[in-house]
Amino acid sequence: MCGIVGYVGTRSSVEVLLGGLKRLEYRGYDSAGVAVIDDHGHLDTRKHAGKLGILSDDLVATPLTDGQTGIGHTRWATHGGPTDENAHPHLGDEGKLALIHNGIIENFSELKAELLAGGHTFASQTDSEVAALLVGDAFRESGDLTTAMLSVVNRLEGAFTLLAVHSDQPNVVVGARRNSPLVIGLGEGENFLGSDVAAFVEYTHHAMEIGQDQLVTIRPDSVEVVDFEGTPVSPKTFEVNWDASAAEKGGWSSFMAKEISEEPEAVAKTIIGRVHDGLVDLPEVTALGADVLSSIDRVLIIACGTAAYAGMVGKYAIEQWARIPVDVELAHEFRYREPVLSPNTLVVSISQSGETMDTLMAVKYAREQGARTLSICNTQGATIPRESDAVVYTHAGPEVAVASTKAFVAQITAIYLLGLQLGQARGTLSPERARGLVAELQSVPEKLSTVLATGERIKELAHWMADTRSVLFLGRHVGYPVALEGALKLKELAYIHAEGFAAGELKHGPIALIEPGQVVFVIVPSPRDPSSLHAKVVSNIQEIRARGARVIAIAEEGDVAVLPHADEVIRIPLASPFFEPLLAVVPLHIFGMELAAAKGLDVDQPRNLAKSVTVE
Ligand code: F6R
Repeated sequence: MCGIVGYVGTRSSVEVLLGGLKRLEYRGYDSAGVAVIDDHGHLDTRKHAGKLGILSDDLVATPLTDGQTGIGHTRWATHGGPTDENAHPHLGDEGKLALIHNGIIENFSELKAELLAGGHTFASQTDSEVAALLVGDAFRESGDLTTAMLSVVNRLEGAFTLLAVHSDQPNVVVGARRNSPLVIGLGEGENFLGSDVAAFVEYTHHAMEIGQDQLVTIRPDSVEVVDFEGTPVSPKTFEVNWDASAAEKGGWSSFMAKEISEEPEAVAKTIIGRVHDGLVDLPEVTALGADVLSSIDRVLIIACGTAAYAGMVGKYAIEQWARIPVDVELAHEFRYREPVLSPNTLVVSISQSGETMDTLMAVKYAREQGARTLSICNTQGATIPRESDAVVYTHAGPEVAVASTKAFVAQITAIYLLGLQLGQARGTLSPERARGLVAELQSVPEKLSTVLATGERIKELAHWMADTRSVLFLGRHVGYPVALEGALKLKELAYIHAEGFAAGELKHGPIALIEPGQVVFVIVPSPRDPSSLHAKVVSNIQEIRARGARVIAIAEEGDVAVLPHADEVIRIPLASPFFEPLLAVVPLHIFGMELAAAKGLDVDQPRNLAKSVTVE
């Protein structure tokens, strides 16, 4: 939700801001804007509704007088529609101050009424303009941007990252955050602020976290952080472990195509360095203490969307391997029903961005209730890991396309590592069994590369189905969350009706949806699995086929039993049941992307969405 970048140094700030916004555009693409303090100490802004390209084209056609200090914003609208007026920056102090905002100011109506009564007028329908006017008024009293921002932040309720510049202090950018992301990029004679490190990774890999309710002032050669009381704090620094090229398309038609192609690597990198002597070794988890690990009597996984489906897959594995009951809950449903938690509950949050507000609030709530919290996260310096007792990072690399793909397989990998570690620590997995499972997990990346090779056939199917209005997905056991994931991708990318069902549930209602021509993807369990699920799913296929469904089966190599019953079979390599989801999901990711592409849609930036949902 909204991408934010700030710069102060010696470079052209317009160039730095536009480059940063380009890499942050996945966070919101309703409108974009910049404010720059030019070489004459004059503040100028430019902003436009629509994608970032409209703003950059305009800045090429009619350049701003450039300077070395500036702020930039790419928006996902909350208060006020995506119009030029509502685009950020917003102005205060008679146009001398510019401010950008990510989040929601919940008490904006009261503040707006107060400002109107004081004689202010508003140029937009946003909540953000309230902050611009308040900080502008406070600057007039103190003549200092840090002091002005400090005096305002404690009056704001809700979630916010604010950045501001003022023409009377030309070499200063001030940022503040509460429940919304902000990181600092440390350079030589220059410093940066960004919603995430992608904003500045082109210029520096040296970064600094900024905590909740903290305020930062950057100048070309200094960075000062204080809490909202004004007390100095010393934040942690970290090194960004990926290059700017990782966040570029690199010749692919879309970020999504590139990220799907990186699914094998995402799994491999998440495992690397975490296996010793054939067994899982996650110091992040063992650091919780042997007594804690043995006393855990319940695991509760909280996440949203695709991350929640990864959690559902994880439930089956942790229960089987560590023999601990596992519940999976959508983070936004969690804290509003007084859930029962104890110090023996391990609450595992899963989040690619590490900033999803629903998940963050659920983690905070769980901690307040005394539960242990562990996060599985893909983004260094993000808020959720910082708010958790432990973190297991996925190493999928930056995910730019709004729809999550490589993060999903990396999340499943991480939760499997956690399940194996718990099973090893609690003695519910013998070392031999654990070694066998670890070896199979390590073989997944190579198998994934084989699955990627089926991409051309899936593309043909997708193009041939470009007019399809509804697609259903069926799966069982770990195949069920994969069915949900396949349906979600199709909804968000191709804007068509799609639903995922547990195959066994079909006869309890959804089978009524089947009519001649209805396309149904079925994730078929392995016939080698000792459970009878393969036969049951084949029966389900026969039931829907008898009613006219067109069945596309995703089945393992050598499964001939499925052939007579499917219109099309997409093959995945042999794997034992827990590893099938990692393989079976890839054709569905490709299908979602290709069907959207066949309809001429933007697969990286689907309508109405933003990658990082930092509002509740
Ligand atoms: C779907 C998708 C979303 C996210 C969800 C959680 O393709 O990307 O459903 O999975 O918004 O986001 P994170 O993982 O960043 O918490």
